Formats: sequence, C-alpha cells, structure tokens
Amino acid sequence: MRMYDIIMKKRNGFPLTKEEIYYFVDGFTNGTIPDYQASALLMAIYFQHMNYEETLNLTMAMADSGEHLDLSGISGIKADKHSTGGVGDKTTLVLAPMVAAVGVKTAKMSGRGLGHTGGTIDKLESFPGFSTTLSQEQFVKNVNDIGLAVTGQTGNITPADKKIYALRDVTGTVDNISLIASSIMSKKLAAGADVIVLDVKTGNGAFMKNIEDATELAKTLVDIGNGAGKKTYAVISEMNEPLGYAIGNSLEVIEAIDTLKGNGPRDLYNLCIELGSLMVAASDQNISLEQAKQILKKTIEDGSAYRKFKEFIESQGGNPSDVDNCHDLIKVNQVLDIKSFQSGYIAGIQTENIGNAVMMLGGGRQKKGDSIDHSVGVIIKKKVGEQVKEGESLATVYINNTDNLDTALDLIKSSFEFSEDIIKEPELIKGIIS
Ligand code: URA
Repeated sequence: MRMYDIIMKKRNGFPLTKEEIYYFVDGFTNGTIPDYQASALLMAIYFQHMNYEETLNLTMAMADSGEHLDLSGISGIKADKHSTGGVGDKTTLVLAPMVAAVGVKTAKMSGRGLGHTGGTIDKLESFPGFSTTLSQEQFVKNVNDIGLAVTGQTGNITPADKKIYALRDVTGTVDNISLIASSIMSKKLAAGADVIVLDVKTGNGAFMKNIEDATELAKTLVDIGNGAGKKTYAVISEMNEPLGYAIGNSLEVIEAIDTLKGNGPRDLYNLCIELGSLMVAASDQNISLEQAKQILKKTIEDGSAYRKFKEFIESQGGNPSDVDNCHDLIKVNQVLDIKSFQSGYIAGIQTENIGNAVMMLGGGRQKKGDSIDHSVGVIIKKKVGEQVKEGESLATVYINNTDNLDTALDLIKSSFEFSEDIIKEPELIKGIIS
C-alpha cells in the first residue's frame, strides 16, 4: 500500500477501506508517514468528506493507535464529557467538580486549544505545578480517591489523535465532521468511561456554523458511542457569542471559580446544569433529569462543588490556595478598555474573531508546538441582546506581548454588531440527541 495512492483516492472522492485508514493512522503515528502526506490526506478528507463507515473506521484506528485506559479498578459508573470546541468554554472546570461532588465518578481525558477555541488542559495549566500528564495508575487512584481526574493524552493513549490534532490545528483542517467525530470519540473510547455526554457547539464561534451540521455531528458522535456500548448523549448548544464573559486561559479559570462560588454567568451555569444532569441521570437510573438538576444546583449552594475543585487542583499537584487567590494567576503588563462608539443593542458578536484575537495575543497556538501565555485574554462586557451606550466599555483586554496588538484590538472591536431595535437573548440549548 502507498500513502500517495490513498491521498489520490480520497482527493478523487472515493471512500477509503478499513485497511487504508489503518495504514494511514498507524504509519503517521509511528513516523513512517511524514507530516506533508498526512496534511494532504486531511485536506482531501476535508473537501471530499468521509461516510459513516469511514468515520467509524478512522475512530477505531485512532482509538487502537495506543493503549486503552483500564478503568476496571474504579468501582461504579464512570462518566465523561467533551465539547466540540468553543470560545470561552470553561464548562469542564465547573461541571466536573459539581458532578463529582454528588458521587458520579468523573474520569476525563481532555485536549489543548484547537484553532480559535480553547482547551481544558491549557486552562488547567494556569495553576503552577498542576500536572495534566497522569499515569494510568495515578488517574485511577485520583478517581477512586476524590471522584475526579482530568488528564491530557499522556503516554500512549490515542497517540494518533495527538499528532493528527496538532497537524489539523495548523493546516486549516479542523472543521470537518468526520475529523472532529473521530478525534473526540477515539479519545472517549480509549479513556474507558461508561457514560459520555457531548456538548456540540453551533454558531459563529463553533466549528459547526449551522444547526444542520451540528445536528449531523451530534448524531455521528452518539451513533459511534452507542455502537461501542457506551451510554452517549449530545447537547447542541449556542456558540454565537462566547460562553460567559471571559476568554483566555487564566481569565476563564477565574470565571469558572466564580461560577463554583455561585457568582458565575447565567449561560455558563445553565449549560453546566444541563450537561451535568445528563451525566448524573445516566449514571443512576433512579434519578430523573429534573432531580439531577436540583441535586447539582445544591452543590453550588452548599459549597461542595467549590471544595471538590480545590481537592482536584491539589490532587494533581496544584496549590489549593491558588484557587482562593485565583486573581493572582493573572500576570500582565497592560489592561486596555475598548469603548463603544455608538449606542444600541448588541445584535451579534463575531465569536471566532474574539477567539482569534486571544490567540494573536498569545493565548493560543499559531503553529504546532507554540508555547502560550495563560494570563492574556479578553473579558467582554456586553452579550447579545444587552443595551449599550456610547462610551461604555465593550471589552477589557489583558496584554503582555504587543506584536499583534493593533490587529487583535481591531478584531475585538469589529466583532460587536449593533442594532437600534431590541434584540432577543439567544437560546442556549438547541437540542438533545440521545
Ligand atoms: N475536540 C476534539 O477533541 N477534537 C476535535 O477535533 C475538536 C474538538
């Protein structure tokens, strides 16, 4: 078999066989297929698409590219959650301790930022000393001890996704249903949880810009999960504005902590309750969705989710006092305010541009292997539907490196769209697929 022929076959629009898909995944993982050929195939997949069977084979090949986590040492049902990627999406940081606080074991494998979107691993690394490279033994031990662990793709778990993900990030091949579905589900299958809840984002800040594509992605994810014997659910949620107000790693950590203390933005809180209730109800058939929501709300009111978050940070090498003093995580040279030149209602926010602006400020990677600045980012001050007066603040920008500053500021400013008429708040939950 030759990689050249596989690229040509897909470029010309033909479906790839299971053997061809495994040949690519195995060869790229072990280094015999170079980046340039893998990039060419990814671009061919991007334009020619894959059918369900190819997507399933790609998922399995990626899941089989390394070890599968053995969670048999953890008693009870293990739940996992994954987002398809958004701007300001810090749900895992809030949701995982909430769910763990009510006894649902949360064993989660997370990723880094991708394109204009952030990643949980990057956010958690805002805490000095926090380790996102847990061994299998440590991962299992932490889930057993405190009910919660989050690890990156360490050691030999889905090494294919780790390499393909990094390549897609810098070759314009992220927003493809088969590539997203196989990336997410290979990790979920290798990570071994029994219950998988997926947050499929749709809108101008998501990889899936319209509801039709988001629904197709959600169905593909759920089909792959259920087909593999996992209880899988997908929530389709709004991403036509950032989730919450904070965008940027440490700023998002602070907003997540505020939410755990009961002072977070409404959309973030509501989404966590929605996703979390599916995790709780799927893990215990005696609990209805409505009961699960009430139980989760209580973890915020009684402080148990906040305490669980501190335990979690400590269990992976961070200092729990950094949670109490989270504002000290931000170390920037400059904070700038962007003021509105007009009055009206916010009609829309070009969310991807805000994500890109944060990436340009150093909060995300422009090329494979770039280091990131956890402190930089943006706090938007107005969301869609809110009224704004001329001269009022639209956003605050946290800056260290000024190389791309003008472009980033222009991007943020021009992201806000105005209307003279009253604009309705967007609907957060667009659908649930089970
Ligand atoms: N999250 C992933 O893990 N992979 C993708 O491709 C997109 C979002």
